[in-house]
Parts: sequence; structure tokens; C-alpha cells
Amino acid sequence: MKILHVVGARPNFIKAAAVVGEMGRRGGFDQILVHTGQHYDENMSKVFFDQLGIPKPDVNLEVGSGSHAAQTAEIMARFEKVVLERGPDWVVVYGDVNSTVAAALTCAKLLVPVAHVEAGLRSFDRTMPEEINRLLTDQLSDLLFTHSESAGENLAREGIDASKVHFVGNTMIDTLIRLRPKFDEARMDGFEKDFGLVTLHRPSNVDEPGSLRSLMETISGSGRGMRFVFPVHPRTRARLEEFGIGPAGGGLEFMDPLGYLEFLALLGRAQLVITDSGGVQEESTFLGVPCLTMRENTERPVTVDSGTNTLVGRDMDRLRAEIDRVLGGERKEGRIPPLWDGEAGRRIVDVFGAA
Ligand code: UD1
Ligand code: UDP
Repeated sequence: MKILHVVGARPNFIKAAAVVGEMGRRGGFDQILVHTGQHYDENMSKVFFDQLGIPKPDVNLEVGSGSHAAQTAEIMARFEKVVLERGPDWVVVYGDVNSTVAAALTCAKLLVPVAHVEAGLRSFDRTMPEEINRLLTDQLSDLLFTHSESAGENLAREGIDASKVHFVGNTMIDTLIRLRPKFDEARMDGFEKDFGLVTLHRPSNVDEPGSLRSLMETISGSGRGMRFVFPVHPRTRARLEEFGIGPAGGGLEFMDPLGYLEFLALLGRAQLVITDSGGVQEESTFLGVPCLTMRENTERPVTVDSGTNTLVGRDMDRLRAEIDRVLGGERKEGRIPPLWDGEAGRRIVDVFGAA
């Protein structure tokens, strides 16, 4: 069976690693890996291929950055040629980024079947570009792999035929479990204890100067002088420079984006994480690290209902209070959600085996 995987952005690489790896081990699959080039800096792309052991992409569409329409359209135009040339039996797309919806729409028009890994997530907030990508990708997909029960319920509510939907677990957690021995053992000098980790890159937090400035000021002045380390996403770096915002005092340290192993090594040792990332909400729930999410909603409610995640919204007084609460020892006890057990890739490949 000829399977073409499409990846483009940092979270895609982590999810695809689980499926590409399992198909490789299982055998019987002719795999083609297409990188759209949505993320292209070495520390946003190549480092993940090296650390996660993903084969080098067979094709890189090199689309780079652009407006939503320009980037999505460019991926579609370049990807269509690849699909026609390679003739896959299935195209597998991951997550909710522009590369995901662009590839799904291209295939739907070419009548090539699409499988969506991480289907059914909904924030119910259409101001979030990813929500549009999720809704459309799921409507266009022929196989939908979900990682939580609520995702399956969302798809049922939208009228998606249950025979296409498979509850398989979380591929991001597969990769985490596989590489845990490496990041648990990694020496992270200076990061043994007593620090908080920060990741912020959502347009709603970083694209408006007032919001970004108050986040930086609040975090750096919180936690009774605790150190907060912030590997800065390139979108955020560009905004910080544009708005002339620095770390705003001693408590907050900026650094470049980290490789996967270094990031997970820090996450596992942190007192808490402040984030707006989708993946980090899940990883912190799995690792039992308190997570304060700077968003009004989440498409990953299982991390709040069962896990260690707290939705803080964008109220800075609430953020200060939540940081104090966690550091005061009031940590939310979490449970690992069902099927987040390292076997999602295997369950996905079983479905293809039976297809
Ligand atoms: C994208 C995804 C988002 C995901 C995030 C993961 C969409 C709509 N957004 O957001 O869902 O959470 O990736 O990290 O698909 N840039 C660089 N180097 C790079 C990549 C980006 O400098 O390698 C800068 C460019 O200035 C670019 C900006 O970051 O304009 C935004 O990049 P883009 O891929 O459009 O969106 P992200 O914010 O990264
Ligand atoms: N990550 C990383 N280095 C960093 C920040 C994040 O390796 O400096 C990893 C982390 O595992 C996270 C994943 O990249 O879950 C996806 O990150 P991102 O927040 O960019 O995307 P999202 O999940 O919000 O779409």
C-alpha cells in the first residue's frame, strides 16, 4: 500500500514520527514523506527529523511563510503535482495547521482518500485559524483517527459517519513515551529545579502589543522571584522585535526554540508551564506537570477535565494567582487520559492493514 504523509510544522513532525515509524517497522507500506516547508528554520524543522529518527522528506515543497490564503494556496498548487506524480493509495495528514487543510483539500478534489490523525478536536472558536482547518479537514477526510472520547462526540455531532472514525489514542504521547529515556537522562545544567517554562505563539496572545507586553511583565514579576525560561517561537520573536518588548526584568529569560529532547527535558523538570500550545497541554498532562493555559478555550478539554491543565484565559490577575497557587503546593492531581499509552501508531497501522 502506498502511503503519502504530509507534514509542515513542528507539531506535525512529532505526531507523524509515531505513524511513519510503526509503518516502517511493520513493513508492507511504500511510504512517501512530503514536507510542505511551512516551518523551515533548522530549530523548527531539521532538529525534529534528527532527534525523532524520521527519514529525510522525499519531497520538500519549500512554501515558506505567507498570509493564510497565500500559504494554503501555494501548498495546494505545489502538492497537487506531487500527488499526481506519485499516485498514493492514501494521504495521511496531521493536526490542524495550514499544511493539513491544504493537503486534505487538494486530495479531496483529486479523489485520493485522506486520513486525518488528531481528528475531532474543537475549540468552538472560529477566530482561531486552526479551528477552520480542523472543521474542513474532518469534513474532507475518509478516515478519522481521534485521541479522546470528546473528539469522537464532536465528529458525531457534525454528522460524520461513525464507520470512518477510530479512537486510537495520542500519537504525540507515543513519541514522548518512546523518547522518554533519552530526555529523562539528558543533563540540563542549570535546570535541575525551581524554574517555570513558558511557550507562547498564538496570534491572540502575541500579535497585539498590549497583550504581549502584559504577559511578559506579569510572568517576569510573578512566582516570588522564580526563574521563568521562555524558548521563543519565531512568530513571537518577530512580534517582540517589532513592538520593542524585552524580557521585562530579571525573572524571565528568552532563548531560541529548543530541540524536542531539550524541551521535554525542561518540561519534565519544571515546577509549572505557562503556555498557549496545543501539544504542551497534552505533554504536561501526561508528565503530571501543572499547566496554565493562556487561552479562553481549549480544543483539548480532556487535559482540563482529567489532566493537570487549567484554563487561565487572558486575565493577568488570575495568572498571578494561579502561579502562586501552584507554587504554594496546590497542584491539580491529574490522570492520564484513556489510550494515551504509546500504542496509537500501532492502532492506526492496524486500521490501514484492515483497509
Ligand atoms: C503554525 C500553525 C499553528 C501551530 C504552530 C506550531 C497555522 C495556521 N498555524 O503557527 O497552528 O500551533 O505552527 O508551532 O498553520 N517563522 C520563521 N521560521 C519558521 C517558521 C515560521 O521565522 O521556520 C515565522 C515567520 O515570520 C512566519 C511566522 O513565524 O510568518 C508564522 O509562521 P506560520 O507557520 O505561518 O504560523 P505559526 O505561528 O508558526
Ligand atoms: N517544542 C519543542 N521546542 C520548543 C517548543 C515546543 O520541541 O521550543 C515541542 C513540544 O513538544 C510541543 C511541540 O513542539 O508540544 C509543538 O509545539 P507548538 O507549541 O509549536 O505547536 P502546537 O502544539 O501549539 O500546534
